[in-house]
Amino acid sequence: MVSAVQRPRLVVGNWKMNGSRSGNAALLAGLKAAAPFPAQVAVCPPLLYLPEVAAALHGSGIHWGAQDCSSHAPGAFTGEAAASMLAEFGCRYVIVGHSERRALHGESDQLVAEKAAAALNEGLTPIVCVGETLDERESGQTDAVVERQLNAAIDELGTSISQIVLAYEPVWAIGTGKTASPAEAQAVHARLRAQLGAAADGISILYGGSVKADNAAALFGQPDIDGGLIGGASLNAEQFAAICRAAR
Ligand code: PGA
Repeated sequence: MVSAVQRPRLVVGNWKMNGSRSGNAALLAGLKAAAPFPAQVAVCPPLLYLPEVAAALHGSGIHWGAQDCSSHAPGAFTGEAAASMLAEFGCRYVIVGHSERRALHGESDQLVAEKAAAALNEGLTPIVCVGETLDERESGQTDAVVERQLNAAIDELGTSISQIVLAYEPVWAIGTGKTASPAEAQAVHARLRAQLGAAADGISILYGGSVKADNAAALFGQPDIDGGLIGGASLNAEQFAAICRAAR
């Protein structure tokens, strides 16, 4: 009998557009005091704070990343940051295709796939987000939507798809306090895993959407949920540390 592959457990804090220099220092000090964790852990602060966060976390075993990157190499793209720049600051991860970017900045499946490719080109691990809106779920389109979003990445990346982290984040669960039940999330994760085909065994699939200290263990206990992408609860060191400890 072939033993099951143990995929890396990963918990990533997405600070979104939150933080302050003093607040970040306190949050990171709390997190470092709670380390080490059984899972890999990373935080993704607003871009401007990356150098300070990198300096604070250097040598701690906690990684850092960005919330977005350009699909382009450096050049005339006002307001953007290239993946090569993120790599210069020691980022390990970059979130691409977060639903807030898709909804508020009109990012298409294709653009998200190109951002993932740009990240991989610079040695960063893209955390590719997929997820359906409430309307899409209620009209029975969940599978079709996440399949379409993931397919764009599969088509763009080819065999390099094996190097991504995937995050399933139902839009209706983000910041709302409504979590997909462990069974609902597991069902989508299993379908995403099947879609990944031969590459699936090594790809961590994170769940995101109102993960808290008190629901993390049940979610992370599902066979195809390999960790979490955490928004609001990542802004509190104690809460986030408890979530990190739940991923084992
Ligand atoms: P939330 O956000 O944990 O605040 O729901 C998750 C996310 O958007 O990544």
